[in-house]
Amino acid sequence: TTNYTWAGRFSEPMAERVKRYTSSVDFDKRMWRQDIRGSLAHARMLARQGIIAAADLADIERGMAQVVTEIESGQFAWSLDLEDVHLNIEKRLTTLVGDAGKRLHTGRSRNDQVATDIRLYLRDTIDEILVLLGDFRRALIELADKEAATPMPGFTHLQVAQPVTFGHHLLAYFEMFGRDAERFADCRKRTNRLPLGAAALAGTTYPIDREFVAEQLGFEGVCENSLDAVSDRDFAIEFCAACALTMTHISRLSEELVLWMNPRVGFVRIADRFCTGSSIMPQKKNPDVPELARGKTGRVTGSLMSLLTLMKGQPLAYNKDNQEDKEPLFDAADTVTDTLAIFAEMIAGVSARPDNMRAALTQGFATATDLADYLVRKGLPFRDAHEAVGLAVRRAEELGVDLPQLPLTELQAFSPLIGEDVFAVLTVEGSLAARNHIGGTAPEQVRAAIARARSRL
Ligand code: ARG
Repeated sequence: TTNYTWAGRFSEPMAERVKRYTSSVDFDKRMWRQDIRGSLAHARMLARQGIIAAADLADIERGMAQVVTEIESGQFAWSLDLEDVHLNIEKRLTTLVGDAGKRLHTGRSRNDQVATDIRLYLRDTIDEILVLLGDFRRALIELADKEAATPMPGFTHLQVAQPVTFGHHLLAYFEMFGRDAERFADCRKRTNRLPLGAAALAGTTYPIDREFVAEQLGFEGVCENSLDAVSDRDFAIEFCAACALTMTHISRLSEELVLWMNPRVGFVRIADRFCTGSSIMPQKKNPDVPELARGKTGRVTGSLMSLLTLMKGQPLAYNKDNQEDKEPLFDAADTVTDTLAIFAEMIAGVSARPDNMRAALTQGFATATDLADYLVRKGLPFRDAHEAVGLAVRRAEELGVDLPQLPLTELQAFSPLIGEDVFAVLTVEGSLAARNHIGGTAPEQVRAAIARARSRL
């Protein structure tokens, strides 16, 4: 068959190569539910306004129900000749119900139709992502709760810095993914506007009721300007930006999981069902899931770059360039939903190895800052305390011990202010408990943060 949608103007059929080049049905057919939902809302509005007859609407509704059945059961014959999801469905409808099917496109263009489909699709996807982010954040809280008082080294420059609790560390990610959820929710507001009624670009001559269509489709309002409605994809770019940031956070967590489960570090175990083996080295247990997630972050960032670049040179209003928005957008959406779903489950399969965490804490003078703070409390200016402790660390390093192992007499050589009470300050527990303010790592504060986090979800 040939594409007769615009045969009137043309004297020869489209070249095969061009057909393949310009068609999008292979990737936009995934929006078929949104396309049909939009068409039905449009048809109801047309009938309500007396633009088509009630009988036409009845035919359209009956035909679309049949189309839904065919697509769901896999019988629907998608055709490249019909370019995209919109023309495929409209053509099948017309075959099924005749003239009523041909009336559906009254007062509409594929330009406002596709923009509507994408917005509906993204709105659904955002809602799915928000649920997944909720599950994932709940899993982080559960693990944080278990490990609220478990000491581990906190790092700067990947060197042992100060003691923190594992729970505190996990809650840092809870915050990051919380902001990601806010970004998606915010993007949803601007996505949730109706383009239909803009038609090709200038609006339409029929007495349409856009508010009615918006209401039918659950949009918060209509796009105010017809040219803008069909041509901008900023909502999709925002969505990809939110996806890229979410994946960036996933990637940082992944990097840590890879490091933590490395046998030389051994801070955590990841349940076997989330690991893979080696085809040659029998001893291996590899963190393939976090590594893959770290890798997939690149393609999501790529999607954001693709869409920004796609948009930057386009004059108003619609240009076919916009057909290229879908693959990066869908890829970003799929990658983020898959990744969040697997991470929510995987976090529940992560367990701490407190002994290894504690052993690492004794190897980096993790309580040096506590010693400096101790001297400050005894009256020494902080800069002088910093220097004194620096010298003490140097001595401890020479002797191959950690600060608490230095005898009191050794310590007193660096400051006469040091007394017997210093040793309580130099313990990991003392260091943790001392950071007892909102946002601090004291177990008491971590537990309070967990309670607040629970109430926020
Ligand atoms: N498949 C097209 C897209 O994704 C639909 C709109 C086509 N409009 C047009 N004037 N060629 O953007």
